Amino acid sequence: MSKKLLLEKAHVENIRLYDVYRREGGYKSVEKALKTMNPDSIVEEVKKSGLRGRGGAGFPAGMKWSFIAKPEGMPRHLVVNADESEPGTFKDRYLMEFIPHLLIEGMIVSSFALGSNDSYIYIRGEYAWIVDILEQAIDEAKANGWLGKNILGTGFDCNIHVQRGAGAYICGEETALIESLEGKRGNPRIKPPFPAVQGLWKRPTVVNNVETIAAVGPIINMGGDEYAKIGVGKSTGTKLISACGNINKPGVYEIDMTITVEEFIYSDEWCGGIKNGKKLKACIPGGSSVPILPANLLLKTAKGEPRYMNYESLSDGGFATGSMMGSGGFIVLDEDQCIVKNTYTLARFYRHESCGQCSPCREGTGWMEKILWKIESGKGSSSDIDLLWDIQRKIEGNTICPLGDAAAWPVAAAIRHFRDEFEWHVANPQESQIRNFGLAHYADEIHVPVIA
Ligand SMILES: Cc1cc2nc3c(=O)[nH]c(=O)nc-3n(C[C@H](O)[C@H](O)[C@H](O)COP(=O)(O)O)c2cc1C
Ligand code: SF4
Repeated sequence: MSKKLLLEKAHVENIRLYDVYRREGGYKSVEKALKTMNPDSIVEEVKKSGLRGRGGAGFPAGMKWSFIAKPEGMPRHLVVNADESEPGTFKDRYLMEFIPHLLIEGMIVSSFALGSNDSYIYIRGEYAWIVDILEQAIDEAKANGWLGKNILGTGFDCNIHVQRGAGAYICGEETALIESLEGKRGNPRIKPPFPAVQGLWKRPTVVNNVETIAAVGPIINMGGDEYAKIGVGKSTGTKLISACGNINKPGVYEIDMTITVEEFIYSDEWCGGIKNGKKLKACIPGGSSVPILPANLLLKTAKGEPRYMNYESLSDGGFATGSMMGSGGFIVLDEDQCIVKNTYTLARFYRHESCGQCSPCREGTGWMEKILWKIESGKGSSSDIDLLWDIQRKIEGNTICPLGDAAAWPVAAAIRHFRDEFEWHVANPQESQIRNFGLAHYADEIHVPVIA
């Protein structure tokens, strides 16, 4: 049984309500932090915990906090990233929907540590009903003296504002998010300057994922050292995984990062095995942006060791034979799934979501989508596979923000591990066309440019 820190109380009846949350021990970390600690000692505790950002990149949270600039007289801000638009990722939704006060509690402590008197939650527009839940929790926290002026008589003021996005995946990228929060189009900014120096309204800003900030309360309550004892290596604490695809028990699970991928997929405690007794074919273990892994490399590393559900183990082997923990969106594919079609679906998503600022991403995502569709619908040639490989290489590392990489990696991994499936489509055009009957006409309309 994995240890639970975030979801331990999520199933207590009416835990959404302040009185119940408080009765269950809620807001203790705010009392401890504001009354017995100072901002520096809180940052130190978060550093000791080893907590890594849960939004995807896994950057150490305490270290990020320590980078925040403190120019005299200039306000600073905490922004919580609740955009959660990465396909396959739905864990922040669960936290906010079922135990909203855990996020508010973590935000108050984090705001105190960072010196933010006005903190923000930027939430994806589609989570409209969760906005109401959060606003009710904020009102309750304010009515009970945890937000507003002079919290607990300490002289610290803090307000939390909720801002809805308008449906753009790119607004989850932290600088695009900041632009959007400022009322502009969500175009990523060139870094540096980093948000910790010039963020929201050019003020020092820390952007953290919902799950990252929700973990701050438990860390303060138990102490950073104790938190660091949970998990393994640099994968400390617990991690929420949203599991979906061809499994018996899709859902959101909190794991302590010591279990193997095999246990996670086949144990009844988590995914409960592959649906309808089918064989496991592949998995995208960390949200749609991370490389797909075939079953053999998913369950065991290239060295033949068991693969574990943690940052180090999932990335063991680099992109040649490994993947990433990413945002924890665990997408399982059974033996019936077509990798080319799956990759096409992802490419289509990235093409649609590219903000268009950089040519490699704007043009490359469109070309990848078109070529993938050409192959999938039986109109491709072997040279198209090489072209696809070439295009993804030209996108990776050549763009303003990581959306370009996020679009390139799934394509690269699909070709790397499943080239035979691409070749099958080329060698079996009729079968491919029959499979995609009704949509195949689209391939006739595409004109793929020749790249020298
Ligand atoms: C295209 C794109 C979309 C992203 N979407 C999200 C998101 O929905 N939620 C999130 O927390 N981070 C997202 N990120 C990562 C953020 O830029 C940022 O690294 C993160 O919010 C930092 O929080 P953390 O350090 O707590 O992980 C996205 C990044 C990119 C490039
Ligand atoms: S990589 Fe894509 S999404 Fe990111 S800034 Fe460039 S065009 Fe926009």
